Amino acid sequence: MKTRITELFGIEHPIIQGGMHHVGLAELAAAVSNAGGLGLITGLTQRTPELLAREIARCREMTDKPFGVNLTFLPSVNPPDYPGYVKAIIEGGVKVVETAGNNPQKWLPALKEAGIKVIHKCTSVRHALKAEAIGCDAISVDGFECGGHPGEDDIPNFILLPRAAEELKIPFVASGGMADGRSLVAALALGAEGINMGTRFIATQEAPVHDNVKQAIVAASELDTRLVMRPLRNTERVLTNPATERLLQKERELGAAITFADIAPEVAGVYPRIMHDGDMDAGVWSCGMVAGLINDVPTVQQLISGIMDQAHALINERLAGLAR
Ligand SMILES: Cc1cc2nc3c(=O)[nH]c(=O)nc-3n(C[C@H](O)[C@H](O)[C@H](O)COP(=O)(O)O)c2cc1C
Repeated sequence: MKTRITELFGIEHPIIQGGMHHVGLAELAAAVSNAGGLGLITGLTQRTPELLAREIARCREMTDKPFGVNLTFLPSVNPPDYPGYVKAIIEGGVKVVETAGNNPQKWLPALKEAGIKVIHKCTSVRHALKAEAIGCDAISVDGFECGGHPGEDDIPNFILLPRAAEELKIPFVASGGMADGRSLVAALALGAEGINMGTRFIATQEAPVHDNVKQAIVAASELDTRLVMRPLRNTERVLTNPATERLLQKERELGAAITFADIAPEVAGVYPRIMHDGDMDAGVWSCGMVAGLINDVPTVQQLISGIMDQAHALINERLAGLAR
């Protein structure tokens, strides 16, 4: 399938694996790229720029296809060494960067000069338009359904995607709630030129996380996510578990007086214990409503070719039949 997204990134299928903290390691990024999609290493999961450089080199050993790096700009008192990470990306010869979390303007000149294509992930049309205006090449439009940070506007993709299509000139992919060929065809119908998936890619054989994480996603239904940190205007969609319930209880008790320090035990530094050790109640972790559509743990190749087969069948058979 050819779209402006496959052309822009030099990939076979319009399917991107979004950056995921402690999930987006070289193994997953390479598997997605080898299957014809675009895999992304999550930059900040590597504690230093030197480690990111090593991860990029490791990924290159596993694939000769294009892959990218996610750079998430976090609200932070002590910001990570962003100049160092950008340098590691450029020197590592990476040709695609997914930015997220904040306006990437400051980093665009260096990335563009190195011939890097930038896809900015955001949750509103106004942020997408801003990204287009400052020179981003594409947008990942992240709807309210998404795992991770859906923003504060709460607009689901059935509205957000056609709104983005009405306003944007640069190509965009649909992110949040995407799982299969039905998602891809629906996204294309709404004006997107591909899909970005997070949660679905965690429940794959190659995702370098503990099997407990994959099984938790398979077991979850669409009713099993919660929004946390809304009072801090840092809303995150997470899987419900005892830590999520503790955090929500604190939010109810402390109301507007809540600070990050109050919830640190549930959120700070918990990802390695969950993703690596499989300690599922160690804290809160991002998960999309799309868990309700995930019932298996295929290889990445099976997942991506299954999506493309289903999409082609839907377009050529069901939809063509209905339009006759
Ligand atoms: C466990 C997990 C960790 C994530 N970490 C990041 C991250 O570090 N940076 C980022 O930009 N997005 C992150 N995301 C968001 C994904 O890249 C993607 O936008 C989102 O999962 C799409 O929604 P879906 O889960 O419904 O597919 C994360 C998502 C999950 C599920």
